[in-house]
Amino acid sequence: MSEFKKTILCIGAGYVGGPTMAMIAAKCPNYKVHVVDLNEERIAAWQSDDLPIYEPGLLDTVKVARGRNLFFSTNVDAGIAEADIIFVSVNTPTKMFGRGAGKAADLQYWEKTARQIKRCATKDIIVVEKSTLPVRTAEAMERILREENDDFKVEVLSNPEFLAEGTAIRDLENPDRVLIGGRETPAGAQAIQDLVDVYEHWVDSDKILTTNTWSSELSKLVANAFLAQRVSSINTISALCEKTEANVKEVARAIGTDSRIGSRFLYASVGFGGSCFQKDILNLVYLCEHFGLPEVAAYWEQVVEVNNWQRTRFVNNMITSMFNTVVDKKIAIFGFAFKADTGDTRESPAFYAVKQLLEERANVVICDPQAIPNAQIDLAGVKGNISYEADPYKAAEGAAAIAIFTEWSDFKELDYQKIYDVMSHPAFMFDGRNIVDHQALYEIGFNVYPIGMSKKVHFTK
Ligand code: NAD
Ligand code: UGA
Repeated sequence: MSEFKKTILCIGAGYVGGPTMAMIAAKCPNYKVHVVDLNEERIAAWQSDDLPIYEPGLLDTVKVARGRNLFFSTNVDAGIAEADIIFVSVNTPTKMFGRGAGKAADLQYWEKTARQIKRCATKDIIVVEKSTLPVRTAEAMERILREENDDFKVEVLSNPEFLAEGTAIRDLENPDRVLIGGRETPAGAQAIQDLVDVYEHWVDSDKILTTNTWSSELSKLVANAFLAQRVSSINTISALCEKTEANVKEVARAIGTDSRIGSRFLYASVGFGGSCFQKDILNLVYLCEHFGLPEVAAYWEQVVEVNNWQRTRFVNNMITSMFNTVVDKKIAIFGFAFKADTGDTRESPAFYAVKQLLEERANVVICDPQAIPNAQIDLAGVKGNISYEADPYKAAEGAAAIAIFTEWSDFKELDYQKIYDVMSHPAFMFDGRNIVDHQALYEIGFNVYPIGMSKKVHFTK
């Protein structure tokens, strides 16, 4: 007889599977939590103190449970055979080939997992969609698992994850809500209750929302679309501010204090990045097109288009400001992660900017406290003069310009006089996150170009 009430398996030990299961294991010592992945290197890292992802507080949470009721392995088949509840947290990137290329979700990893579960399961199971998926994917999972299967019963639930990278542990420990969708049948209701039982170990019942499966699947895409829409909305206004001497920070504050609007996600930036916003909106767009709703599709697609435009606008502004040429000019890129407090560089605005600057034959040096290893992987095939330097003071030596792409607090606290002194002059600061003191830098001698507010330059013409 096992010492555990139930065994939870998670397939996919990435940015979501790893932290989510670490939290469940830490909060539910009576459940065995087994996290599996095909990637041996990743699993080995999860078993060590050098975790495969950088996330504040993650190692402490892992250490609470690892070896007690939290286990990592590559043995997917054995994990499935033993499990009562199987979370599937594999990657669901944008499909890059065939029908729906560039928009639809690529469900190949998802479907392989479904078939593997069917092959290896030995008892009744609950399969939980943790990955972000197109609405009605659970139906396909049910079909695969139930077809010609008299060996075990299965219920498929949707339980999308809302954590944000950089704050994953805080978000998991104290979520705004946990969403669980399932079938409106007695078996579906029982499966929902079994999953509610897990979360109720630490989440208040009134924060656990239960819905039908399709509402849950769709809500995840819609949540990301709404968040990204706010960023694109404020970014459009940043361009207007630059033309009119309005200040985007002041505008964001003025509108954000209206409780109906709220203050969060109104930071103008060089564009949103990350593995999910763009992919999930494009997935939503594809679904709308598929269901014959072209107006709805066009509305949401514009959020992504504005983001592409903002990214390019920022780099074009850099080139124009530096006398229309950056050939052989050293440009220090401060921040390559898609946001602060993560080493993740997926869809980072800095990646696109660096590519554009290299096409203009600039000499680019990349500086980031956590993301240099991922930057090196991302830029491995890109031609041009690229170097990497973790020390911002060294990165700025001889540079004509600094461009801030990530809002790391490290970049706020630097001695910019010392930096100015070692740069070539005139020295430029392009603040893609509005995090440094623009007036102070101007007084040091920098020509300062923020987002959505007037530039501060020493040129008279
Ligand atoms: P990830 O790429 O970091 O991790 C996915 C893992 O799944 C990889 O390690 C991969 O090796 C593994 N995998 C793929 N197929 C497998 C198989 N058949 N068997 C075993 N392992 C397999 O991805 P992620 O960022 O963790 O995202 C996972 C899902 O969660 C995506 O659908 C994403 O949209 C969603 N999501 C991500 C975030 C985030 O912040 N990253 C937040 C919410 C939701
Ligand atoms: C986002 C959502 O916030 C999570 O709820 C969701 O679970 C996750 O996507 C997902 O599905 O993957 P994440 O991408 O990790 O989380 O990070 P965010 O904090 O949302 O930031 C996304 C991007 O928008 C970053 O590049 C960030 O710098 C940018 N951003 C955000 C702005 O430019 N301005 C803002 O005001 C807020």
